[in-house]
Amino acid sequence: MAGASGGALAAEVTAAGAFGFLAAGYLDPASLRKELALARGILVLAASDRLPVGVGYLAWKLEKSTDAEAEEMLAAALDNHVQAIWLAFGVHIDKWIRYIRTYDEKHRRRDPTLIFVQIPSVEDAVVAVKNWKVDVLVAQGNESGGHGYRAAPPLLTLVSSILQVLPEDAPPLLAAGGMTNGRHVASLLILGADGVVLGTRFLATTASLYTEAQKRALIAAKSGSTMRTMAFDRVRGTVEWPAGVDGRALYNSTVKDVEEGVDIHIAEEKFKKGVQDGDPDRMLVWAGTGVDLISGISTAKDVVNELHDVTLERLEMASKLYTGN
Ligand SMILES: Cc1cc2nc3c(=O)[nH]c(=O)nc-3n(C[C@H](O)[C@H](O)[C@H](O)COP(=O)(O)O)c2cc1C
Repeated sequence: MAGASGGALAAEVTAAGAFGFLAAGYLDPASLRKELALARGILVLAASDRLPVGVGYLAWKLEKSTDAEAEEMLAAALDNHVQAIWLAFGVHIDKWIRYIRTYDEKHRRRDPTLIFVQIPSVEDAVVAVKNWKVDVLVAQGNESGGHGYRAAPPLLTLVSSILQVLPEDAPPLLAAGGMTNGRHVASLLILGADGVVLGTRFLATTASLYTEAQKRALIAAKSGSTMRTMAFDRVRGTVEWPAGVDGRALYNSTVKDVEEGVDIHIAEEKFKKGVQDGDPDRMLVWAGTGVDLISGISTAKDVVNELHDVTLERLEMASKLYTGN
C-alpha cells in the first residue's frame, strides 16, 4: 500500500503468520532499500537470507521512468531476495515480469521470485494466467480501498466470473476489496478464492505509516463514508495513472470541491493545509468499503490472529450447515 505499508508493517504481518507486502509506490531506490533493511532487521534475518515479504510496484511509475531507473527500483527488491513482487496499474506489466524472470535466471535462483499481479476483470485475468504465467492472481473488486479500476465489478461477481473461466491448473486466486474481518474472509474462501488480500484493515495498525489523524478518521468512518474519486490525485498532482483508474477514499470537502469545479489551485491549497493540520475534512484517507468495521488501532499481529480465528470459526459453522451437525 503506497504511502502506508513500509518495512515495519510488512515484517509484522509476515511475523504474525500472514504474508506482508511493502510498497515501492512513490519511493526512490535508496528509500526502498531502507524499508527492506528495516523488515530484515525486524525479522532478525542475515543479509544473505531470503526475505519473506513482498514488494508492490506501481507499474505505471516504472513505465514513466527510464529503463535504467526502473531496473534500479526492481533491483532493490531482487538484490534483497524478496519472496514476491506485486505488479499492478501498468500497460506493460509483461515487460517487468520478463525482467524479473531474467534476473532470477541470471542469478540462478533456486527459489524464483513469486510474481503477483492484481487485475480488475475476467479478461485481464485470462491474459495474466495464459500469456504472462503469473504465480499468483489477485482479483481486485470495486470495494477496494486505494486505487483500482472504476469499472471493476464487485468482488463477489469478479471472483465467481474469473473462477468460471480459469483452467484447472491456474495459479492461486486471491480476492481483494472491502474485507475487514474473518466473516468476510470466510465468505470469499467459500466462494472459491484460494486466499485474500486486506489493505484498509492494516492501515489502522500501529506499524502502518498512516498518521494518527488518518487512523482516527478510519475509526470514525461509517458505512457509506467512502467513494471512488480522482479528486485527491488531482490536488496531489499524481494524475498519470492508466486510463480507467481512480481511487476509493473517505469522502470529504476536498472531493466535494473538486467535483463541484472549485478552482483546482484553491482546492490544492486547502488540501495541503488540511494535511498539515490533520483535518479529516480535507486530508486524504484511502479506504475500502469495509472501513466502518474498524473500531480501533491494533498491532498487525492482533489483526492477523483475529482474522485467522474468526475465519476458522465461520468455516466451521459453514461446514455444520452442510453436515447438519
Ligand atoms: C492506502 C492504500 C494504498 C494502496 N496502494 C496500492 C499500491 O501501491 N499498489 C497496488 O497494487 N494496490 C494498492 N492498494 C490496493 C490494495 O492492493 C488492495 O487491492 C486493497 O487494499 C484491497 O481493498 P481493502 O483496502 O478494502 O482491503 C492500496 C490500498 C490502500 C488502502
